[in-house]
Amino acid sequence: MTLKGGRFVVTGGISLIGSHVAEQLLAAGASHVALLDNFSLGSTEMIGHLLDDPRVTLVRGDITRLNELMDAFEGAAGVFAIAGFLTLPFSANPGLGIEVNALGHFNILEAARHRGVKKVVFSSSVATYGDPEPGLIDETRPYRFHTMSPPGVLYGATKIIGETLGRLYSDRHGVRSVSLRYATVYGERQHYRGVNALYIIEAYDRIARGEAPVIPGDGSEVHDYVHVSDVARANLMAMDSDVTGEVFNVATGKATSLNRLVEIVNEVTGANIAPVYQETAGAVRVTTSSELTFSIDKIAKAIGWAPEVSIEEGIARLIAWRRG
Ligand SMILES: NC(=O)c1ccc[n+]([C@@H]2O[C@H](COP(=O)([O-])OP(=O)(O)OC[C@H]3O[C@@H](n4cnc5c(N)ncnc54)[C@H](O)[C@@H]3O)[C@@H](O)[C@H]2O)c1
Repeated sequence: MTLKGGRFVVTGGISLIGSHVAEQLLAAGASHVALLDNFSLGSTEMIGHLLDDPRVTLVRGDITRLNELMDAFEGAAGVFAIAGFLTLPFSANPGLGIEVNALGHFNILEAARHRGVKKVVFSSSVATYGDPEPGLIDETRPYRFHTMSPPGVLYGATKIIGETLGRLYSDRHGVRSVSLRYATVYGERQHYRGVNALYIIEAYDRIARGEAPVIPGDGSEVHDYVHVSDVARANLMAMDSDVTGEVFNVATGKATSLNRLVEIVNEVTGANIAPVYQETAGAVRVTTSSELTFSIDKIAKAIGWAPEVSIEEGIARLIAWRRG
């Protein structure tokens, strides 16, 4: 499908990832981009520049209501299914999280089928691996959930349901569907809902106030941080390709420890404040391993995607945005 001249809907259009997808769609020459959101988590405060573009419309809509999607999907060539509850909002409201992430995605596929939408790109997560054993993690790794906290397990399970519905609609109804399993996404317009991206933004907030950043354990816990512009580009490339019924890791393949994150924030801000090692009571945590390696071979071979933004550059961009 060509992006230039196409009409697209971005559910969760005012989100961190949705707003970057919209930005890149406009740059690629899309003729119309509808940002569909129910404003439950996001706000339009940070996307004024998008709303100024005459090709963009803001649609108040809820993915748990099929009728609202039927109207919004009329004439759309493709849908980026990004609206969803991350682990933290999921933990606060698990019933609604299940409804939004699982039934909401069913509604999206059903509306896509009825409205003749050609392709749906679903925002999945590496949470579908749960708490994986060490070693290279490719898309065939099973879900290992018995060592995880309930919110993380439930979140990952809803993403497995979403992916599976996508495959079902691809096989049975010809709605092309690709699921992208993002690692920890961060970048400009960062929010406080991402359990592992919080380590970056909270370290920055504290260092900016001259306080010591707080990290749990000994700081050796690692995550794979992928910049939001790379994630948005993966979405566009997946939409543009002929691939269907597939899932892909969208990660960097590199692990960064919490200690290294604090070091980078210190480097970028010109500060030199050592972290304090302390558990935060009641904090929701997902994986705490000191080894994590995602394979990104499958997506490279299928659609030619590879990450471009290093963690050092990505954090510098986030901090520049935050200061601005
Ligand atoms: N941020 C990450 O690190 C990360 C990692 C893996 C997967 N994901 C997935 O990517 C997607 C987007 O993540 P994000 O960080 O941009 O999220 P976000 O929290 O910034 O945005 C989610 C958006 O969905 C909207 N929304 C919630 N319920 C809705 C409903 N019923 N109808 C319509 N809109 C609704 C919210 O208002 C919000 O704007 C989510 O599905 C998430 O699970 C994110």
